[in-house]
Amino acid sequence: MKKDYKLPSLDDARKRNRELSQKLSFKLDDKYKDIGKGKKYFIITHGCQANQRDSETMAGILDTLGYESCDSEKKADVIIINTCAVRKGAEDKVLGEVGALKRLKYNKPDLIICLAGCMAQEEETVKIIMEKYRQVDIIFGTHNITSLPKLLYEVYTTKQRKIEVYSKMGDIVESVPVTRFMSHKAWVNIMYGCDKFCTYCIVPYTRGKERSRYKEDIIYEVEELVRQGYKEVCLLGQNVNAYGKDLSLDYTFGNLLNDVAATGIARIRFVTSHPWDFDDTMIQAIKNNPNIMPYIHLPIQSGNTEILKKMNRRYTREEYLSLFDKLKKELPGFAFTTDIIVGFPNESDEAFEDTLSAVEHCQFDNAFTFIYSPREGTPAAKFEDKIDRKTKEERLQRLNERVAYYANLNNQKFKDKVVEVLVDGLSKRNSNVYSGYTPENKLVNFTGNNVKTGDLVKVRITEVMSFSLNGELVE
Ligand code: SAH
Ligand code: SF4
Ligand code: F3S
Repeated sequence: MKKDYKLPSLDDARKRNRELSQKLSFKLDDKYKDIGKGKKYFIITHGCQANQRDSETMAGILDTLGYESCDSEKKADVIIINTCAVRKGAEDKVLGEVGALKRLKYNKPDLIICLAGCMAQEEETVKIIMEKYRQVDIIFGTHNITSLPKLLYEVYTTKQRKIEVYSKMGDIVESVPVTRFMSHKAWVNIMYGCDKFCTYCIVPYTRGKERSRYKEDIIYEVEELVRQGYKEVCLLGQNVNAYGKDLSLDYTFGNLLNDVAATGIARIRFVTSHPWDFDDTMIQAIKNNPNIMPYIHLPIQSGNTEILKKMNRRYTREEYLSLFDKLKKELPGFAFTTDIIVGFPNESDEAFEDTLSAVEHCQFDNAFTFIYSPREGTPAAKFEDKIDRKTKEERLQRLNERVAYYANLNNQKFKDKVVEVLVDGLSKRNSNVYSGYTPENKLVNFTGNNVKTGDLVKVRITEVMSFSLNGELVE
């Protein structure tokens, strides 16, 4: 079949330069205003917090165009699937979902289905969607979110499918509308992209180069959230510790933490910290500001130096453990979580044992564990791998058992204690029970009366499980 569209390119997306990223300001062309009047939209979000925040931007743009949100695919005139490409499992799930929408489109030909997010940045995915999933009308990439009004307008006026995916380093776009999905907790981007190029990871290709927002824009956004009554912000970046390095302003993440803390917001969190540039200014800022929450996510990925080297993680086992010990000592009472990949190409039994022993050493509060998934276009996808799937699954299971053991052990210290919980709302599982998180990011389900989303309440912990706590409201 002849292609009349431009495919994205992971090769182009790999390029980096030292130039400062452009700062642009979003403007809506008058001709797009009101194109959504009387129409409804539904957004499905996969992947990390960066995607969650992008979906809020898409919702903000659609609201500005006159669309209204709705609570199911069936009612929608526009459906957006915001995708994740980090592992094959995530991608297969999306393709299944897109497949299932075929029927809906058949019954409602005016329905517009959009595929957005990290999968849209992959040439293979775009080819598959264009050739096999004709129900998809619009594909737009992570650098093209602000083109959504134009793309919708073009589909309405031309009745043609549209693709816009730039494989570029990316800009910083400010003043983009946002409709936040929560009224008490907010995601705040502090930087975009990633330049670490861990050999297994697709993110540097799908999100472009590491680029920081200006501190004035970030602080203004947090101040605005405080005025609107928000209780918590989570500062987002693939590697927040590198904040500001590209701007060369002698203003680092530690400085930003102090300034965000000074806004008076009740709770501050941040993800993700790469062990590479966790510096002392950061540690001091975390120590000095009680509204920075006692929780650190510090991905280790592997406990074996040789594997870490093949992963291009830029630290050895010893360096990770010594940073971890230092943080543990300097920040008493903090909870620590991590990410771990098992079954990296040719990971030996000994190398896996090193990961287990690192887990024994650190006794993490929790760990997100994954079986390595080859991502086309990344260096590790070409590495020889003699380890079979069964071995990898057994390793994951053994690892998960140890993770659950330490998660439970860490939670025991909360038994009978009174903790502060920021209320998210009624629990998903039980409609008479509320849920929320402690400062250490422990999920608490509790009974009580007259509690609202966004309240900061005291809860006595009555029961401890590995991955959550149960309790009752202290009157
Ligand atoms: N920027 C973050 C991670 C973002 S991706 C960091 O560096 O910590 C979230 C997690 O997904 C990673 O920490 C890693 O554990 C996992 N991951 C990334 N690529 C993967 C792959 N190809 N296979 C399996 N897990 C992967
Ligand atoms: Fe991926 Fe590594 Fe960047 Fe994290 S730091 S997003 S794992 S390349
Ligand atoms: Fe997935 Fe993209 Fe986030 S690949 S993890 S949605 S940056």
